[in-house]
Amino acid sequence: MANQTLQQARKNKSDEFYTQLPDIEAELKHYKEHFRGKTVLCNCDDPRVSNFFHYFSYNFEFLGLKKLITTCYKSQERDLFSQNNSERAIYLEYTGNKTGGRVPVAEEIGIKHLKGDGDFRSPECIELLKQADIVVTNPPFSLFREYVAQLIEYNKKFIILGNQNAITYKDIFKLISENKIWLGRSLSYIAFQVPSYYQEKSTRYWQDGNGQKWRSMGNVCWFTNLDIAKRHEELILYKQ
Ligand SMILES: C[S@@+](CC[C@H](N)C(=O)[O-])C[C@H]1O[C@@H](n2cnc3c(N)ncnc32)[C@H](O)[C@@H]1O
Repeated sequence: MANQTLQQARKNKSDEFYTQLPDIEAELKHYKEHFRGKTVLCNCDDPRVSNFFHYFSYNFEFLGLKKLITTCYKSQERDLFSQNNSERAIYLEYTGNKTGGRVPVAEEIGIKHLKGDGDFRSPECIELLKQADIVVTNPPFSLFREYVAQLIEYNKKFIILGNQNAITYKDIFKLISENKIWLGRSLSYIAFQVPSYYQEKSTRYWQDGNGQKWRSMGNVCWFTNLDIAKRHEELILYKQ
């Protein structure tokens, strides 16, 4: 039992890494033309705290989106790191600013309750997935294989953040070799906010002046099946 709990804790540890807005902006600027008239789903994102939600709601008109759907997993607390201790999750559907401004106003961001815990595999979340044209998020690293398999099963376009090691997973490598998915404008180093309970002996882990804990990873990259200019750049060969 204790061993199981430990294993779960280890697994969950890298599931609560929160992506910073500049890292999202740096990648998504390469996909602007794909978003016009589209419904975007962020399905591992508490809309009250997710920078993916922030990015798409603030750029809703600029990107010409049709709808933004965001679902969170378990926690209903406003706290970014509430440890998913509530079983009932929330979601949100945003259709743009109706008051003429560029910034979404609170009344337009109606938060609704899900029946279950917001697991991306649950039937109600799959119904939301079916509505989406493009899925964009940083999913839990421990469920990466399952997450990608579901996107492929429902034939969705996506831009998601993952660990570079995923390239070597049998099922992910197969998709890459079949040209069904590829890497985005890959990042090699990225810093994530982590929960207050997070602890590690590593130079990649630190606490800032405000007490916020951080963990950087040198091996993350974006995975996508949307076309980007980088795919069409000629490879200059300089050696035989
Ligand atoms: C790596 S974090 C990223 C959070 C957010 N997308 C971001 O980038 O800041 C992954 C998130 O997925 C949530 N999660 C874990 N298991 C999940 C599941 N089965 N279904 C949906 N979300 C899940 C975690 O609670 C966590 O908030």
